[in-house]
Amino acid sequence: MAAVLDSVRAFFAQNAFTIDMENPGDVVARENLLDRTMGPGRRRKSSETLRRNRVPAEGLALVARDPDGHVIGTVRLWNVEAGVSRYGAPVPALLLGPLAVDDGHEGKGIGGALMRAAIGEAKTRGHGAVLLVGDAPYYERFGFFGEKAAHLVMPGPFERSRFLALELKENWLQGAAGMLTATGRKLMQAPMKRAA
Ligand SMILES: CC(C)(COP(=O)(O)OP(=O)(O)OC[C@H]1O[C@@H](n2cnc3c(N)ncnc32)[C@H](O)[C@@H]1OP(=O)(O)O)[C@@H](O)C(=O)NCCC(=O)NCCS
Repeated sequence: MAAVLDSVRAFFAQNAFTIDMENPGDVVARENLLDRTMGPGRRRKSSETLRRNRVPAEGLALVARDPDGHVIGTVRLWNVEAGVSRYGAPVPALLLGPLAVDDGHEGKGIGGALMRAAIGEAKTRGHGAVLLVGDAPYYERFGFFGEKAAHLVMPGPFERSRFLALELKENWLQGAAGMLTATGRKLMQAPMKRAA
């Protein structure tokens, strides 16, 4: 019996992970994880133009950690305006991505846990909608569909069938049309040193 319990414990310990807020000490591990999982082309995506030199939305940079605290998954959300409403008012929303899970830990529910935590936190914080560019067969399970993003465009090339939205407040994106623009707080950059 003890041996059975030990093997059950070992199985769950091996699959254990926690979802946590990202902290500054996670940045290098997160960037290495994204390089490994998404490759060098990740910085050329249209989504990247909405993230570059911006800080993620408040409280919406999450990581998954293994039992030793190492980063094995990441997801971040970004403040954007999703075009304008039918009355011409900007429509605040979030852009999700990248979502990535370390190769060695795929298929354990970590991506799903990160998605559910991110969506729950976004809702708690009062956001109205989340947009993303990604594989519809994966993201549909979290409620993301192309319909609500049908009249919106990314600021650069994108595949329409991969441009998806989830409303956190009913009809938030109703009538929203136009291009996504970045509205997140800008990263503080160190001033350039002038040559003496
Ligand atoms: C996509 C990704 C985040 C999923 O993470 P994960 O922790 O393995 O996901 P989960 O364990 O929560 O879910 C696994 C399920 O999603 C499915 N899945 C994974 N990627 C998928 C995809 N691109 N399209 C459709 N289904 C997918 C798996 O087949 C599995 O299905 P099952 O539950 O029926 O067995 C991970 O594979 C990854 O980091 N990929 C590389 C980076 C990337 O492409 N990110 C953007 C995704 S568009």
